[in-house]
Amino acid sequence: MRPLLLRLLLSATVAPTLAHAQTQPATTPTAAALATLDALAPTNGWLTTPPGLSDELWTYYRREYTLDPTGNELDDTRVALGRLLFFEQRLSRDRTLSCASCHDPRHAFAEPRPTSIGIDGQKLTRNAPTLLNVALQKHFFWDGRASSLEAQAAGPILNPAEMGMPGPATVVARIAEVPEYVALFELAYGRAPQFDDIARALAAFQRTLVFVDSPFDAFRAGKQDAISEDARRGFALFAEHCRSCHPISLRAPLLSDGNFHNVGIGFDNNDHRALAHAAFSRLRGLDRAPTATEPPETEPVEARPSTAEVPGDVVGEFGELGRALLSKLEYQVGSFRTAPLRNVALTAPYMHDGSLATLWQVVDHYNQGGRPNPWQDPQIRKLQLSDAQVDQLVAFLFSLTDNRLADANARALAAQQRAARRRP
Ligand code: HEC
Ligand code: HEC
Repeated sequence: MRPLLLRLLLSATVAPTLAHAQTQPATTPTAAALATLDALAPTNGWLTTPPGLSDELWTYYRREYTLDPTGNELDDTRVALGRLLFFEQRLSRDRTLSCASCHDPRHAFAEPRPTSIGIDGQKLTRNAPTLLNVALQKHFFWDGRASSLEAQAAGPILNPAEMGMPGPATVVARIAEVPEYVALFELAYGRAPQFDDIARALAAFQRTLVFVDSPFDAFRAGKQDAISEDARRGFALFAEHCRSCHPISLRAPLLSDGNFHNVGIGFDNNDHRALAHAAFSRLRGLDRAPTATEPPETEPVEARPSTAEVPGDVVGEFGELGRALLSKLEYQVGSFRTAPLRNVALTAPYMHDGSLATLWQVVDHYNQGGRPNPWQDPQIRKLQLSDAQVDQLVAFLFSLTDNRLADANARALAAQQRAARRRP
């Protein structure tokens, strides 16, 4: 009964924009993005163990990364509802933007421009990260300021520079305009649409986007020729120079330590000292600049602040301070969350400000020792890699793309080779 009703609702005129998109050939952007998403569905559906994982490991991830939080356990209805909301332009003030506008399935749930453009053409200061595997992270945003996907989702909808909705009540009223949504919320959460349930459904949908089945994983599992000779050499270089921040393990599969480091990005056109001074005197409850200049052994994880402490517009203005804006620790000026590297080949341009156009530029950046500044992580230093070694590291990074995205990976390789003027 439940699945049947669900199917009926989904095939009916759920949201006019979507219904339109779903019946048209892939000519509108939404229709094309939806078609891309549907083509990526695992053979057994989005809710089964994702390709490449054992049932045991998937069970471990579900527990470790809280993929079934109380009140929002993963199920078909919630995921289907979240998928609709993800493409729903009603969630923006002028009905022009959906989550998919900046996290476009055709661009691996990221976008090809360096920094996002929000409502009314407002220029944001950060690059939209991919949502592939976002579920397997514990802190969200480049500065880690949200600690669950549920908490994160409210951010863009209510942010005046992103989707610009004036408040939760308006958002709910928009959604309740559509009778099918009302019915779907009833099915998914047993009540009329509520703002928190919109965030829950969006989180549930995003938790299905697990793409961790790459040629590199086959290599790690013992299949030597799953990746090229270059990529194998690149992996050895990676283990030597990069793995301290981008660790590789089955338990934390994204090649990120989840910690914050300054690797010298954003220092060409910002005065971080002036920014820090202005920000710290502006933020309420703080009347002087922070004093801790030395990092402690490890950052106290429980001390991680929540979104509520730093309003979105302050992040925008002082965003280049990175983690320091939240922790108020000076040594974290210009520190950002170590970027996860799975499927990274598909999400150019790179870094929190999208300032590096290709993976060649990224590796060149590390090779030259970052961009020295008072807060740069001491692990970033000149590497003296030859051109051939740079190519090998890049080949390794291209081997981290999920097999379902192999075609896009080949296209990305060609495009980046052209842009970086590397021979094919
Ligand atoms: C105007 C473009 C834009 C729109 C619309 C948008 N996002 Fe984002 N999204 C971004 C940018 C830019 C960031 C990085 C912001 C930061 O780190 O400060 C981001 C970050 C995220 C993250 C964190 C990813 C990570 O790796 O930490 C998630 C999750 C996310 N967005 C989901 C959504 C959802 C769900 C919606 C729809 C409700 C949405 N976004 C709408 C641009 C956008
Ligand atoms: C000191 C820790 C550290 C080391 C060492 C390190 N990285 Fe990173 N990496 C980071 C951080 C932090 C970011 C995000 C920085 C930012 O945006 O400001 C990042 C970003 C990246 C990105 C961009 C990903 C994206 O989605 O934009 C790539 C690619 C990358 N690193 C590859 C490497 C490679 C290859 C090496 C070794 C040559 C390496 N990293 C060494 C911490 C590190």
